Amino acid sequence: MITFRLNGENVTLESAPATRTLLDWLREDRGLTGTKEGCNEGDCGACTVMVTDEHGARALNACILFLPQLDGKAVRTVEGIAGPGGALHPVQSAMVDHHGSQCGFCTPGFIVSMATAHLNGRRDFDDQLAGNLCRCTGYAPIVRAADAAAKHPVPDWMRADIPPGAEAKAEGGGGDSVGDPDYADVPGAWGRRAPEGATGASRAGGGTRAEAWVRPDSVDALAEWYLDHPDATLVAGATDVGLWVTKGLQDLGDVAFLNGIADLQRIDIDDNTVRIGAGVTMDRVRDAMAVLHPDFAELIRRYGSEQVRAAATIGGNIANGSPIGDGPPCLIALDATLHLRRGDARRDIPLEDFFIDYGKQDRAPGEFVEAVSLPRQEDRLRCYKLSKRFDQDISAVCGAFRITLSEGRVAEARIAFGGMAGTPKRARHVEAALTGRAWDADAVAATWDAWAEDFAPMSDMRASSAYRLKAARGMLMRALLEDLGGQTRVLEVTP
Ligand SMILES: Cc1cc2nc3c(=O)[nH]c(=O)nc-3n(C[C@H](O)[C@H](O)[C@H](O)COP(=O)(O)OP(=O)(O)OC[C@H]3O[C@@H](n4cnc5c(N)ncnc54)[C@H](O)[C@@H]3O)c2cc1C
Ligand code: FES
Ligand code: FES
Repeated sequence: MITFRLNGENVTLESAPATRTLLDWLREDRGLTGTKEGCNEGDCGACTVMVTDEHGARALNACILFLPQLDGKAVRTVEGIAGPGGALHPVQSAMVDHHGSQCGFCTPGFIVSMATAHLNGRRDFDDQLAGNLCRCTGYAPIVRAADAAAKHPVPDWMRADIPPGAEAKAEGGGGDSVGDPDYADVPGAWGRRAPEGATGASRAGGGTRAEAWVRPDSVDALAEWYLDHPDATLVAGATDVGLWVTKGLQDLGDVAFLNGIADLQRIDIDDNTVRIGAGVTMDRVRDAMAVLHPDFAELIRRYGSEQVRAAATIGGNIANGSPIGDGPPCLIALDATLHLRRGDARRDIPLEDFFIDYGKQDRAPGEFVEAVSLPRQEDRLRCYKLSKRFDQDISAVCGAFRITLSEGRVAEARIAFGGMAGTPKRARHVEAALTGRAWDADAVAATWDAWAEDFAPMSDMRASSAYRLKAARGMLMRALLEDLGGQTRVLEVTP
């Protein structure tokens, strides 16, 4: 059974296939056709809906959001943005006043993203709207509309979905970074059914294999269930798995949805360690890193889009083993430890050891990622994402550098890259060439040959092998120049 709120009304689904997307259900079963299908892969934002839970209100892509992921949450589609009697929301009036729509296909998605930003008090519209694609109006009138709407208060009806106690987070535009309470435990919270069964693992569907899914509510329940179903698919944010279904037309078999496990969503920070649960979404990782390692936060700003960051988890970004994921190089440079669990057995490994080869990770059947942790440390991280577009693009090369100094010399160098090999990989020869040297241009020059010992990158549509090597070398020089106070982060070139 799945229970959630849709445009202010409670909805209960007795059963649903694991892979039924919210977009299809809205359009086909509810007749709510305002939510559009553009790309069906999380790229265009035409399907944007607002989803509210204990972490506040977030814009998400309905095309890669499966119905079981919504249990206990509130969904607002474009049909639910206007108020009683059809009163326009300030973002809707502003879009009319500022001529923000032409063909109108993208407009519902923009309206929902803008209303979510408005509710959360966000003014960084270039970031907030980067996940919404407009092919004809162009962004200037739309951003002008968002700016104009920001001067108006949040309408009362937009607060109806916010559970008691979570309003401050929605206003503040981001989740609490330490151990949010389970929404179900908030007195007066609506919608969430009690967990069923002794293990706490709830089950719906039945019928075909594709319909058998669970949404465990504890790590223990997940560990027990996964041990019995080692071939099952784990779904965290579904920003990868969603595409296996919508584009790959795959049958996922048995499925466990992880987003009901509060313990996986914790960020625990003490004097020595930062422990990030596998289920923490990238937008919350960004909030935490803004304080600890601002360069990492800045890189996450360019990770997918607002909608993608609000769904994608750090655990999924690691476990998918992608050679071009943006999280792993930064985490490896920060000396991260991966916490794995299989049944009751737990083991910790250096994150870089998890990535064995392309498509091959050090993870046994029935084993899952529980958390990743970083030692507390002086912030020496520099990381750079190189992609063809600034927003919403996969890295051609992603480089992360943590070079610590002692009396002007390199005491330790940890350098890791994505996009340079079949896995996220450390540049060990480069690190060795730097260590002990004075930190200057000669040290960078001394690494020249070491790069080719560390990496033999491939050529593909994103970049040629030679370009990748050249770019990686350039990134090390950039790290040095920044240490020397150079200005390398220019978004606009002025004469
Ligand atoms: C439009 C778009 C833009 C994107 N842009 C970027 C980008 O800029 N940078 C980037 O790095 N990535 C990007 N991605 C890829 C994607 O967002 C990431 O790989 C994401 O972190 C996956 O996390 P998830 O929670 O959505 O994982 P899911 O899709 O739920 O799962 C991914 C894989 O990890 C497994 N898994 C998930 N959680 C666990 C766990 N706890 N233990 C074991 N296995 C687990 C799943 O079984 C699956 O194999 C983008 C994706 C889209 C759709
Ligand atoms: S349809 Fe394009 S993001 Fe969903
Ligand atoms: S108004 Fe046509 S795509 Fe935006």
